[in-house]
Amino acid sequence: MIELLKGHIIEAKSFGEPEITENGYIAIKDGSIQGVFSELPEVYRGEPVADYSNHLILQGFSDMHLHAPQYPMLGMGMDLPLMDWLKAYTFKTEARFADNDFARETYRKLAQELIDNGTTRVCIYSSVHTDATLILMEELERAGIGGYVGKVNMDRDSYECQETTEESKHETLRWLDACERFTLVKPILTPRFTPSCTNELMRWLGEVSLERGVFVQSHLSENKKEIELVKKLHPDCEQYWQTYDQYGLWKDHTIMAHCVHSDEREQQAMIDHNVLCVHCPDSNINICSGFAPVRRMTERGVWVALGSDIAGGAQLPMLQVLTCCLRMSKARAIATNGADPFLTVGEAYYLATSAGARYFGDKDGFAAGNMLHAVVLNDESLPPNTRPLTVKERFERAVYLSDDRNIVAVYGGGRKLK
Ligand code: GUN
Ligand code: FE
Repeated sequence: MIELLKGHIIEAKSFGEPEITENGYIAIKDGSIQGVFSELPEVYRGEPVADYSNHLILQGFSDMHLHAPQYPMLGMGMDLPLMDWLKAYTFKTEARFADNDFARETYRKLAQELIDNGTTRVCIYSSVHTDATLILMEELERAGIGGYVGKVNMDRDSYECQETTEESKHETLRWLDACERFTLVKPILTPRFTPSCTNELMRWLGEVSLERGVFVQSHLSENKKEIELVKKLHPDCEQYWQTYDQYGLWKDHTIMAHCVHSDEREQQAMIDHNVLCVHCPDSNINICSGFAPVRRMTERGVWVALGSDIAGGAQLPMLQVLTCCLRMSKARAIATNGADPFLTVGEAYYLATSAGARYFGDKDGFAAGNMLHAVVLNDESLPPNTRPLTVKERFERAVYLSDDRNIVAVYGGGRKLK
């Protein structure tokens, strides 16, 4: 079936200025993009049009790092840095997901809030609990959200969430077998981070990843105290990334969140192995981790995308993460006396959309062959201006000022979800 979307189309085709097609059309066949057109081609005349004239049509957002069982603590516990924060608040909250009813209620609400804010794909952590992880997967699929979901592995220094090594292995296999029924969401192996996992468990996860062809997500070089601890735990490794690499977990499509303090050598290891670095700006300021060198990394060729990292991050909407990314890049520019110039709106928009979408096999922008992931913004309620604005100006303003009330339609995986 052919469908057309009409409006001001704004595409992140590269890490730079967005490409704008005013009053254009996106043609879709069975959910898959056929092309973007400024004039409607003859072949599509007479096909049904979803008319968003004078609205802004943005790409759907990909949140490439967040913790579903931290949703209940959103906006709380901001008085401690990472390692103390985990122990004082986070593990206690995640332990609640032993209760399946609580998990169902929480994850249904989370999935709805993601859709309401235009996030159509995620790479998301669950807790250690297999059943709650399956519930999370069910609720994401039900809402039409695609991506990767991880049952967390943690068999060391993990307080209320501690598993034995044997439990962790057994439950991981039980979970992987139960995942076959899902179509939109897929499993991803999730050793929480090096301090939480014994070498034996890491080695085993590396083997499972290889045997079953399952990707891996974890955390890297987020915080100075964490890095010191990893050095103590692994005197055999010169750098943090090698604690993953030595067990076969550092490879194509491995996701590493934060990388705030990764030096050039660690960044080069990401480039060499096509590891995705997920920048989580709101979390990095909230739990006192630092200002990540995002421009340096992207310009060197590191693959960088954005994550909300709730609940270290307090903002689930990716538009808020995007603007936080801009602010944090300015903090870095100030801290480096301008040596690291700040990001532009178009660059941050690319990180929030196409850079993450690539993880799922998409080409940049609304490219032909991608399934449609789109967010329609109505900016009429934003402040009156002294003069008519260009679409580019409206885009910038809408990015800074929109919330879910301005998001009037959301398409994910080719379907209308809001
Ligand atoms: N490192 C290990 N676990 C976590 C977590 O839950 N949040 C963040 N921000 N960093 C972590
Ligand atoms: Fe995280």
